[in-house]
Amino acid sequence: MKSLQDFDGGVGKSERKPLSGRRALVIGGTGGIGKEIALLLAGAGANITLHGGSSRERLALTLDAIYNLGGKADGFLCRIDGVEAIDRIFSEYSSCVARAAYISRNERFISETCYSPDILVYAYGPFKRAVLNETSAADWQFLTQQNLTLPGYAVSRVLPSMLERKWGRILLFGGTNTDAIRGFVSTAAYSSAKTGLGVLAKSVAKAAGGAGVTCNVICPGLTDTEYADETVRAYNRAKSPAGKALSPKMVALTAMYVLANRSINGAVIPVDEGVVV
Ligand SMILES: NC(=O)c1ccc[n+]([C@@H]2O[C@H](COP(=O)([O-])OP(=O)(O)OC[C@H]3O[C@@H](n4cnc5c(N)ncnc54)[C@H](OP(=O)(O)O)[C@@H]3O)[C@@H](O)[C@H]2O)c1
Repeated sequence: MKSLQDFDGGVGKSERKPLSGRRALVIGGTGGIGKEIALLLAGAGANITLHGGSSRERLALTLDAIYNLGGKADGFLCRIDGVEAIDRIFSEYSSCVARAAYISRNERFISETCYSPDILVYAYGPFKRAVLNETSAADWQFLTQQNLTLPGYAVSRVLPSMLERKWGRILLFGGTNTDAIRGFVSTAAYSSAKTGLGVLAKSVAKAAGGAGVTCNVICPGLTDTEYADETVRAYNRAKSPAGKALSPKMVALTAMYVLANRSINGAVIPVDEGVVV
């Protein structure tokens, strides 16, 4: 695997790129941090399958951005509302890969063929603020399912083929300050689930690290994405040590470093300029 410089600067160059031939599925890859990672992965030569929630426009814009970089990508939309959505995502992913194989090799389209990615980035992770004694059962269920159960299930889905191929990269996203066990005044449900991702990553590292599979968690600081409204941006500015929120690109550059290094495994990495929320 080549250096980080290749990830950032390899776009459009004719020499073989570090992730050429690798297939990446980016769940939540059409906006925010996931989108920036998808662009950098494409620049590093990976074939990208983008998953987005509901915005056809954001999906089209991200695909165009990848094509403009000379990258290869396909994508689809699927609202994540339960475990079945993860099954649908892998089924859509298989169809995308099968279509690409059909187009590039003129092979017969075999719809039942099941493909699995070499690289899984699970970026989507909804946030909700609620003080502990006002957090409803529905909120607990939603935030835990979305931020721990479903990423966990997605990891279980991709792991067998990564083990078989003896190569795999999994990247998950924690919350701000969930890199250690801490207390949170108004985000206990969200932050509990996000903190649990560290156990998931370390479990993968323990079970599959010897077979070339890595799984890590990045815990971003307050990051301004296109989803943040002015109230969120003002909060981010006020809380951020530098008086300025992180950009998704800053987080994505660290993500690429983590994905490039086999020796980083089971790590929970804050990328937050030291912010305390
Ligand atoms: N932003 C921050 O300040 C911050 C701080 C700490 C941790 N994090 C964590 O970092 C990760 C990335 O966060 P982010 O703010 O960049 O973006 P995000 O809102 O978690 O993800 C955006 C992506 O998810 C898709 N999506 C949105 N709603 C969906 C739904 N109901 N079902 C399926 N997909 C849906 C979006 O597609 P559409 O555009 O089509 O909806 C887009 O592709 C998350 O896990 C988050 O918890 C973020």
